[in-house]
Amino acid sequence: MSATHPDPAPVPASISGFRRGRSGDLLDRCRAFSAMLDVLRAEGDFPTQYQLELLGPLDHEIVVRDPLTSRPKKLVCFDSNSYLGLHLHPRVTAAAHRALDEAGAGTPSAPLLSGTSRWLRALEDVVAAFHGREAALVFPSGYAANIGILTGLLRPEDFAVRDRHVHASLHDGCRFSGARGGVFAHRDPASAARSFARDDGRGGKLLVTDGVFSMHGSVAPLPGLAAVAKGAGALLMVDEAHATGVVGPTGRGSEELFGLPGRIDVLMGTFSKAAGAAGGYVAGPRDLVDYLRFFARSAVFTASLPAPVAAAVAEAFRLMDEDPAPRERLRENARRFTTSLEALGVSPLATGTPIVAVRVGPQATLLRAGRELYDAGIRCGSVSYPAVAADSCLLRFTVNARHTDDELDRAAETLAQVAGRHGFLGPGPAAQLDGGAAGEPS
Ligand SMILES: Cc1ncc(COP(=O)(O)O)c(C=O)c1O
Repeated sequence: MSATHPDPAPVPASISGFRRGRSGDLLDRCRAFSAMLDVLRAEGDFPTQYQLELLGPLDHEIVVRDPLTSRPKKLVCFDSNSYLGLHLHPRVTAAAHRALDEAGAGTPSAPLLSGTSRWLRALEDVVAAFHGREAALVFPSGYAANIGILTGLLRPEDFAVRDRHVHASLHDGCRFSGARGGVFAHRDPASAARSFARDDGRGGKLLVTDGVFSMHGSVAPLPGLAAVAKGAGALLMVDEAHATGVVGPTGRGSEELFGLPGRIDVLMGTFSKAAGAAGGYVAGPRDLVDYLRFFARSAVFTASLPAPVAAAVAEAFRLMDEDPAPRERLRENARRFTTSLEALGVSPLATGTPIVAVRVGPQATLLRAGRELYDAGIRCGSVSYPAVAADSCLLRFTVNARHTDDELDRAAETLAQVAGRHGFLGPGPAAQLDGGAAGEPS
C-alpha cells in the first residue's frame, strides 16, 4: 500500500465501477481491479464467460477447456463474427498456406518501407473492386483503421458527429482527432441535422455511423443520414464491419441494401467479420486513400498485415463475390433464430441482421444468465461495460451460416427459459435502444 494513500476507496463490485479514477496511485487501481476479479472468479460465473480457452477452431460448435474442471467441453457457439464460415473454407486456408510457404510468417516492416508485399497489394485491389471504389488502404486491424482514418482526416477546427451507438473505435477516433462535434441520437437523421446546426462552419464536416450496429444489430437509416450529410456539406463515413458480405443482395453492404451504390464517401470495413481473419481497411477515391496512406498514423507507424493473412482475406472476398450460398444460409439462419425467439416471447433489440441481442440489465444478472447458458452447452457474447453502458448489459447471439437448424432451435428455447427465469424477455426493441452509449468511455 502506498504511504500517500493509506485509505483506498472500497473496491467496486463491477467493471463499470472503475470508470473514474479512484486514487492517485496507478498501481493501486490495478490492485483494486484484481481484487474485484478475484471475487468474481470465486463466484464461478465469470470464468465461464471471460476465461474460456479454445482447443480448436472458432466455429458453430467449439471445444473449450472448462475453467471449472480443466476438462474439454463442447459448446454451440454464437460468439464468432465469421458470418459465412470463410475462415475454414478450403480455398481460404490453401491461399494462406501458399503465401506462408512463399513469404514466411510475416512482413515485419511498415507498409511505406518494405512491408508492402504483392499479397497486400492484391488484397487492396480486390477490396477496392468489391466495393466499386478506386482504391483501398489496409490496416492491421479494424480498430486501427478507424483511429487512423479519423485522426488522419480530421483537425481540431473540423466538426464530426456520430451516432451514439457507433463502435468504440469510432468514438475513440473522433475524440483523439480533437475535432468538435459529438453524438446524435441512435439512428436519428433529424438529431444529426440538429448537431450540424451547432457548427460555426470553420472547418470540414463529417457524419459517422456504423452500417450495422455491432452490439445491437440495428441498421443505420442510410438514405436519411446521406441526405443530412449532403445538406450540411459533410462527408459520410460508414463503418461496414458487420455489413460487408452480410447485407444487400450480393453482400455489398449498406449501400446495396438501400439501393445507394457509391453513396458512402469514406467506406471503412474489417477483415475480422465475414472475411474471417483480421485487419481493417478504408475504400474510396484514390485521393482520399493516397492521403491516408501517409497521414493515417496507425497505417504508417506499424508493421503491415502478414502475407498469409492478406492472401486468405483476398480469397475470402473472391468467395463472397462468387458464391451466394453461405450468405443465403446465413439469412435463413438469422430469420429462423429471431422468429423462434419471438414466438417464445423474447424480444431482441433489433431484427433483420445476424446480430440478435437481448438486454439483460446489470452485470450480475448477465453473469448468472451467461453461466446458465454455458451449463446448457451454449456460448454467446456476454456484453458488459465498456462495450455497452453500465447496467445495459446484453446477451449477444451472432448467428452464422454454419449453424444447424437444431442448434438454432435449441439455443432459442434455452435462451427463452433463461430470460423467463431472470425476467428479461424484453418490452420491445424501440424502448430498449434508448439506453446509454455503446463503447463510449463516459
Ligand atoms: C463496427 C466495428 N468496427 C470496428 C471494429 C474493430 O475491428 P477489428 O476487430 O478488426 O479491430 C469492430 C470489431 O469489433 C466492429 O464491430
